[in-house]
Amino acid sequence: MKVLNSAIIGGGAIHGCHVNALCHLPDVTLRALVDIDSVKGLKLAMDYRCRFYQDYREMLRDPLIDVVHICTPHFEHKEMILAALAAGKHVFCEKPVAMNGREIADIIQAADRAPGLLGVCYQNRLNPTSQYIQKMLAGGSLGRMLSIKAVLTWSRSGSYYTESPWRGRLATEGGSLLINQAIHTLDLMQWFAGGVTRLKGVVESGELADVTEGEDSAMATLHFANGARGLFYASNCNTVDSPLLLEIHCEHGTLQLTDNTLWRIGQGERTKLISDAAPDGSAKSYWGLGHQQAIRRFYHAITQPEKTDYTDIRSAGKSLTLVEAIYRSSQIRQWIEIAH
Ligand SMILES: NC(=O)c1ccc[n+]([C@@H]2O[C@H](COP(=O)([O-])OP(=O)(O)OC[C@H]3O[C@@H](n4cnc5c(N)ncnc54)[C@H](O)[C@@H]3O)[C@@H](O)[C@H]2O)c1
Repeated sequence: MKVLNSAIIGGGAIHGCHVNALCHLPDVTLRALVDIDSVKGLKLAMDYRCRFYQDYREMLRDPLIDVVHICTPHFEHKEMILAALAAGKHVFCEKPVAMNGREIADIIQAADRAPGLLGVCYQNRLNPTSQYIQKMLAGGSLGRMLSIKAVLTWSRSGSYYTESPWRGRLATEGGSLLINQAIHTLDLMQWFAGGVTRLKGVVESGELADVTEGEDSAMATLHFANGARGLFYASNCNTVDSPLLLEIHCEHGTLQLTDNTLWRIGQGERTKLISDAAPDGSAKSYWGLGHQQAIRRFYHAITQPEKTDYTDIRSAGKSLTLVEAIYRSSQIRQWIEIAH
């Protein structure tokens, strides 16, 4: 089997999850690490015994590189995706795939024309609990879905923003809590319910108002395509990263995700279904274990084109559309219709 050569752009907080995932893949070599910070990048490249580039465009000229991982600030994603696809590479990009819907449209156009695949990292879809929920819902035993409630309360300190100054700025992060942290929760909600038709939301800034230009808290009511209702609350003002609380209320029972364990509640009983295993040292607990699986699925799709079970740009764009719609709704204090 042909060995695939990979490059990672951005050697910051998340890149270790990508390195770790690549180490677990047979027939894949990490060939290059790119970072504009040459001190950090060179050291990482030495650790990984790979090449170092300070300029990602120079790396793209290496004909031996097949797959490019984008682990950089949000405002750089679109430009890097377009350049890597134009260079004939496959691209695996961290969420959010872009800053807004306009950028998604440009990326879709480029991805449709490109020979390479474009995958986006929504690793929480691959948590055992998420997979279990999808199977239960598809199986039909719970009957019609009535609502999804999601509560995400995490903690972000001032140093989280000062250590990477692109965070907390609208021009480089594109928002704050919604586009960076809670986008995973919005993604799961829309994924479980098969899409959102309209929403009304509000964003606010309190505790972190002095450190981020974006919001630190948000809430929204969503109407899903399947007729169910969504209630969403998220905040970065907690003092601890609490696990996501999610409840899916259906005609014949409720699925409850709490403390990373999924329960079925109904007829006076609460039955444990499955738990998510704790990640190893390469990932923070709230990132989950899914990077490895998400990346494995993407590489399988490259080598076996019949395998298409990775998150592509159209699927990845949905949660970003919701993020943008909540920002807009909060501005104009009205419901926003979501186009499909
Ligand atoms: N999937 C998840 O759960 C998850 C978790 C954390 C972060 N992320 C995402 O990962 C991405 C990176 O976030 P992070 O927290 O690792 O950021 P970070 O600030 O820790 O790291 C970014 C790195 O990119 C480098 N960089 C910036 N511009 C560059 C350029 N033009 N060329 C080469 N290198 C460049 C920086 O020097 C830095 O080392 C973001 O999209 C973020 O939302 C995803």
